[in-house]
Amino acid sequence: MKQLLLVCHTPSTNTQSMASQLLAGAQAEADGQGQVLSLEPGQCTAQDIMAADAVVILTTENLGYMAGTTKDLFDRIFYDLETQTEGLSYALIVRAGLDGTGCTKAVESICGGLNWRPVRPRLLCKGDWKPAFSKQCYELGQLMMSSLIMGII
Ligand SMILES: Cc1cc2nc3c(=O)[nH]c(=O)nc-3n(C[C@H](O)[C@H](O)[C@H](O)COP(=O)(O)O)c2cc1C
Repeated sequence: MKQLLLVCHTPSTNTQSMASQLLAGAQAEADGQGQVLSLEPGQCTAQDIMAADAVVILTTENLGYMAGTTKDLFDRIFYDLETQTEGLSYALIVRAGLDGTGCTKAVESICGGLNWRPVRPRLLCKGDWKPAFSKQCYELGQLMMSSLIMGII
């Protein structure tokens, strides 16, 4: 059984919608062959990540960087995982009111330090809220789960 872990920082109704659609998309493709676990960064441990076959990180950009709770996750897990999860498949979703550059760069740099493998282009949901952001999250959830089950990520 393939395990997909979603780590979603959801401080607003919009980001809650993105996370719930991401989960729904993954569940829609699980088909008895995959399991999906969705956690807030503060709930997530190194063990949760070690148990996963792929991870999706959803975070907001705050003050030109990833949200503090997402940074705290990496602070807590980095040394435990440094040599344990090399090659882990991951995808990144950033919700940014204006920009997203600093957040994206920071998360990708840390994931690069862990030798994780980006398996989808980053999804940057930038600017005024659009319902399409939630739809894009649903589709990413579908794609991550179906790719895991097919063994292509
Ligand atoms: C304290 C704070 C700092 C923020 N800093 C940034 C920022 O540096 N860049 C940016 O694009 N958006 C920034 N935002 C906007 C958030 O990214 C945005 O509100 C969040 O993604 C939630 O999106 P929503 O308004 O659609 O719910 C900031 C929001 C807060 C509360």
